[in-house]
Amino acid sequence: MGPLFPTGARAILPIPARIDSATVRVISVVGARPQFVKLAPIARAAADAGVDHIIVHTGQHYDPMLSDVFFSDLGIPAPDVHLGIGSAGHGPQTGAILAALDGVFDTYAPDWVLAYGDTNSTLAAAVSAVKLHYPLAHLEAGLRSFNRRMPEEHNRVLTDHAADLCLAPSEVAMGHLASEGLADRSVLVGDVMTDVLMLVRSGLGGGASGLVSELGLTEGGYYVATIHRAENTDDPARLREIVAGLSLLDRPVVLLAHPRVIARAREHGISLTTGSLLAHGPLAYPDLIAAVQSSAGVVTDSGGLQKEAFLLRVPCTTVRAETEWVETVELGWNVLAESSELIAAAVTRERPPATDSTPYGDGRAATRVIDTLAGSARR
Ligand code: UD1
Repeated sequence: MGPLFPTGARAILPIPARIDSATVRVISVVGARPQFVKLAPIARAAADAGVDHIIVHTGQHYDPMLSDVFFSDLGIPAPDVHLGIGSAGHGPQTGAILAALDGVFDTYAPDWVLAYGDTNSTLAAAVSAVKLHYPLAHLEAGLRSFNRRMPEEHNRVLTDHAADLCLAPSEVAMGHLASEGLADRSVLVGDVMTDVLMLVRSGLGGGASGLVSELGLTEGGYYVATIHRAENTDDPARLREIVAGLSLLDRPVVLLAHPRVIARAREHGISLTTGSLLAHGPLAYPDLIAAVQSSAGVVTDSGGLQKEAFLLRVPCTTVRAETEWVETVELGWNVLAESSELIAAAVTRERPPATDSTPYGDGRAATRVIDTLAGSARR
């Protein structure tokens, strides 16, 4: 287990005495990289609507490239509260966030607590909010992998069932919520990651990706890879299999390496720069989008990247046995592949058929979220 307050975690900001608000108050609880991306359009929509929006950063992610860079690049206001929790096992990490949030919620007495996605920070926010009787909304509700060994699956199922309002990104997610008896508290808003992607892509211009010039690659001549899920990184045999598969691909594979995969690879003596495979640090969001847009394909176990690849119409190979984003697979833009042979076959497959399908909304999900919260606040 890592330290609860690792080097790099920021100091806890002092929590002021109870603060009242004349307008609808929403507290967003975020802590991990994908949550900062989802927070960006919500913060913007809240400001546009005059909602009093409080941002609480749990400190689950503390490396600047997993945290600060998203706030600066995506124009997110600095957190009002930073809990500085850092890394630890599931119980200690979730418990430390939960314990710290009670005081924050009582200080701000929000009309809504907004929990994002499926991390340990999400579950802690959910439990704290329901125990203290603050209305809880879950953004990105209704996703299911049906794999009960994934920490994210526990977090999202428990949060959906604790929530007063389930904000679903897709029809498929709405279907899952309905089949679990949650239809009457569910609203289809669309996917806020579509909002961010559209905005960032329009600001990129048509220039080449910085990664291409930095690494001497050619446009369309490389793959982008990310591997960070516990089930792929923590078992050395599994990690070796994936690294072997990537290292044998027909073009350079840039692995944008999360600290978890670097730590596990080092622990097990696995080199992440071998054959076609080249390890690189994580990228800021606009650089990631530019790098994916210029690539020949994506190989990943990230949920967000599967969708980003689809929205950019870049073929994706997902190194998992299942996905929550089934629409990407049904439309042919994503293939699930676990062994090194299947990864190679999937990556070199023919380009999928063009589609104008929009299963993840129209880029205005955040406005719908804020309208729904403001319209149903108890005041
Ligand atoms: C978490 C989420 C996962 C999400 C991912 C995005 C849970 C259970 N998992 O996984 O759903 O897809 O974030 O990245 O909440 N570490 C650092 N620096 C950091 C953060 C982590 O070095 O800033 C290292 C630590 O060694 C830590 C390990 O990465 O133990 C794992 O971090 P953790 O926050 O527990 O989970 P993630 O793998 O990032």
